[in-house]
Amino acid sequence: MTKPLRWGILATGKIAGIFARGVAGSRTGRLVAVGSRSTDSARCFAAEHGVDPARAHGSYEALLADQEVDAVYISTPHPQHEDWAVKAAAAGKHILCEKPLTLDLAAARRVIDAARARGVLLMEAFMYRCHPQTVRVIELVRSGALGKVGLVQAAFSFNAPFDSQGRIWGNALGGGGILDVGGYPVSWARLVAGAVEGKPFLDPAAVAGVGVLHPQTGVDAYAAATLAFANGVIAQVSCGVGLTQDNVVRIYGTEGWLLVPSPYVVTRDLTPSKLLLHRAGATTPEEIIVTPDRTVYAYEADAFADAIAAGRRDVPAMSTADTLGNMAVLDAWLRQVGVVYA
Ligand SMILES: NC(=O)c1ccc[n+]([C@@H]2O[C@H](COP(=O)([O-])OP(=O)(O)OC[C@H]3O[C@@H](n4cnc5c(N)ncnc54)[C@H](OP(=O)(O)O)[C@@H]3O)[C@@H](O)[C@H]2O)c1
Repeated sequence: MTKPLRWGILATGKIAGIFARGVAGSRTGRLVAVGSRSTDSARCFAAEHGVDPARAHGSYEALLADQEVDAVYISTPHPQHEDWAVKAAAAGKHILCEKPLTLDLAAARRVIDAARARGVLLMEAFMYRCHPQTVRVIELVRSGALGKVGLVQAAFSFNAPFDSQGRIWGNALGGGGILDVGGYPVSWARLVAGAVEGKPFLDPAAVAGVGVLHPQTGVDAYAAATLAFANGVIAQVSCGVGLTQDNVVRIYGTEGWLLVPSPYVVTRDLTPSKLLLHRAGATTPEEIIVTPDRTVYAYEADAFADAIAAGRRDVPAMSTADTLGNMAVLDAWLRQVGVVYA
């Protein structure tokens, strides 16, 4: 049996706690350290997640200097991802970085180059890619169960109270829907367009986006885009931080359509998830049940550790080439909508 991957968590916010529980439920990893801008937060987080208090670091630098840490999970707000990912690479740590990897494509390239230069693994934390439900959807698309796939509709939004200084609405913290959640529907669309031709993803030939900006901070409150792929797949994607949607993915083909009711976080616990296959002409949909044995974050931690153990340069479910394609779409969408970060 190989040694467990020793994780350090960089920043102690909301998703950091959820990921810590994911590591605890993984088959490959162990949380050994945490770093925060505040020693109190680091100690508190360490106490909650069973980390040795000696490895509760009061700075991110100290976490990166910790020789007991093999991999770091970066969960700061988006604008800090680039800097800490580059520093983590320089420190020789493998890096799982929250989405979006960076604020734009050029910065994503810099991070990927830094990871490549030090030979460390880098993955943008699109956790749903590692879940067996996603694998099942890809199999269905490839199997021809839907016939020829023509259209993907994918939505992800929520309605958060306005706070001009917060992470969700603030300009300085990279707020707005496209960067926070828009990457999910875009990545689903690219995944399905690729699956149609047996590829891990496909990049669109054209992107046409619109959006509504918050008058005070200039970040997108909600936005939609149409993506056109060279193989005939069209995708309609939408997102927002000031809008309530159904947050589902629908994939339409000549012989039927598939509803993915919970495409992103999938299930918060180990309850089975359900896909609904509507075959053309059938009166009721077929239910396809996927039963997980871990949470989506545990699957993600395991996919990451397995890639390291296999000596890979990328996590197959979410490669850095895939990240670059996603960032290119987000760049175009943000530009068309007119979002400018200070
Ligand atoms: N994959 C997912 O399911 C998922 C879900 C939610 C969020 N995310 C991503 O995870 C990242 C963090 O989201 P979150 O919801 O966890 O955010 P959050 O609760 O606001 O936590 C962010 C943490 O980052 C640190 N930080 C560093 N610089 C900061 C600054 N200038 N202002 C505020 N905090 C700063 C703080 O930790 P310290 O005080 O300990 O330094 C803070 O607790 C985002 O990039 C987001 O897109 C992913």
